[in-house]
Amino acid sequence: MYEYSAELLKFAKQVIPGGCSTESKRTETLFASEQAPAFFKSADGVEIVDVDGNTFIDFGMALGPCILGYNHPVVVEAIEKALVNGILSTLPSSLEPQLAKLIVEIFPSIEMVRFMKTGAEACSAAVRLARAFTNREYILASGYFGWHDWSNKSAGVPASIKNLCIEFVFNDSDDFLNKLNVLPELPAAVVMEPVINAHPEREFLQIIRESCDKSGIVLIWDEIKTGARLEPGGAQQYYDITADLTVLGKGIAGGMPLAAVGGKREIMKTWEKVWISSTFACESLSIAVAIALLKFIRDNPVNAHIEKLGTRLLNGFQKISRAFPGLCSVFGIPHMNGIGIFEDLPNVKELEAAFFHEILNSGFIIKRHGYNFVSYAHKEEHIDGCLDGVYNALKKIKNLE
Ligand SMILES: Cc1ncc(COP(=O)(O)O)c(C=O)c1O
Repeated sequence: MYEYSAELLKFAKQVIPGGCSTESKRTETLFASEQAPAFFKSADGVEIVDVDGNTFIDFGMALGPCILGYNHPVVVEAIEKALVNGILSTLPSSLEPQLAKLIVEIFPSIEMVRFMKTGAEACSAAVRLARAFTNREYILASGYFGWHDWSNKSAGVPASIKNLCIEFVFNDSDDFLNKLNVLPELPAAVVMEPVINAHPEREFLQIIRESCDKSGIVLIWDEIKTGARLEPGGAQQYYDITADLTVLGKGIAGGMPLAAVGGKREIMKTWEKVWISSTFACESLSIAVAIALLKFIRDNPVNAHIEKLGTRLLNGFQKISRAFPGLCSVFGIPHMNGIGIFEDLPNVKELEAAFFHEILNSGFIIKRHGYNFVSYAHKEEHIDGCLDGVYNALKKIKNLE
């Protein structure tokens, strides 16, 4: 069933460390086993066809960016139209200010915006901006912000840099305040994802907002997953609270590589004294897609559809997990959620491999150790089919426990 995948993966591992350049898309990472689809041939709507010709209904949605589903006409037509005029030139594209204007209109707290290519890059830019604006060095952070040195604790990052970024626990106001109080000096920024496996509590958001206001700390919301997904104007619109700087990525460009940092004019103006620039930042195909996509999301019930179907998926996962107590856990909010085998079970890896094997056999891909992202292309029948697949998979693996 996965013969060509296996062959290609064997070859890929000889020439690409890990076999694939995105860690979260490695076969083993996705499915807890390599007896699984390793590469895709095509992706359209909610379907992925792998290199062996197997078709799956996908809920991973490329880790979040494909908010309308794969290959959506809005995205494809925007690319085709922009391509006629060229991808890059020595001059920036005239589309860039158009997109900036649209983002300023849609995102409540953004007065100015700069573009870049990846989420990690945009998060790093926001942090450098905050450090330059405040003339401070420490960062308080809660979430995942990509692979760059300022936040990532990976091997290879100097200890002196790691020590400047202190993590606090999401939805734990006491932990946030304790960490803020024990820092040797005030931080430049609080950088946070507004959603980590659950809705944020109102009090938690307010305490952070007030602490930042009181001490001149830049509040950065990383809306790479939530921007355009929860509402056109992201989690800030959904939860009715504003950040000083906002980082956008995935959701704003429908699968094209584009990220952005936007926010208060006085902070964004600091860009004049820091050096943050990139050759491809104003590449026109991604910008054209972002314009078309954000207008489409603003003018169509995309967010309501995602929330409605996401609720059906999340409620279904919860009902199923109650039928198998002690076997699996459920996390997330309607717009992004997941189900996973309990990590502290002694044979968790064996259970996971069997679980994902069964789900693939029923024709679905759900994300292991991460969110599923319902898209505008999903329909109720996909949700119900996936829930049946998950239920049957758990029923089968229950005996292995
Ligand atoms: C919240 C958040 N921030 C930053 C990143 C990093 O973005 P990228 O992988 O585009 O560098 C991600 C990626 O998953 C993310 O989810």
